Amino acid sequence: MIFVGELAGLPPGESVRIDGAVPIAVFNVDGELYAIDDTCSHQDASLSEGWLEGCAVECPLHAACFDLRTGQPSGPPAKKPVRTHAVSVEAGMIYVHEQTRESVAAGV
Ligand code: FES
Repeated sequence: MIFVGELAGLPPGESVRIDGAVPIAVFNVDGELYAIDDTCSHQDASLSEGWLEGCAVECPLHAACFDLRTGQPSGPPAKKPVRTHAVSVEAGMIYVHEQTRESVAAGV
C-alpha cells in the first residue's frame, strides 16, 4: 500500500505523481479516484501531466488517450495498456494498492 497524501490536497480535475520504482499517477475525476502507471506505454512521458477528459487522460507528448478505469489506450500511437491500481481513502488519506505485473498477468 502506497501513501499518496491528503484527499483535500487532490481536488477534482487534479492529478499527482507518486515517485517510486514505477511511478504512479493518481487522478481525481469528479470525486472518483483512479491510479495508473504514470509513464506512457508509448514513450517516456508523464501521464500525470496530461489532460483529463472524463475518465480518460491524454498523454502530453503524442496525445494518446488512456482510460483510467482499464488502462487501455483508445488509439495510436500507444498500443499497450498501462497498469491500473486500486485506490482507497482512509481517514481522509489516499492510498494506492499497487498491482504487480504478476497479478496483472494472472488477471487478479
Ligand atoms: S509518449 Fe505518450 S503517446 Fe507518445
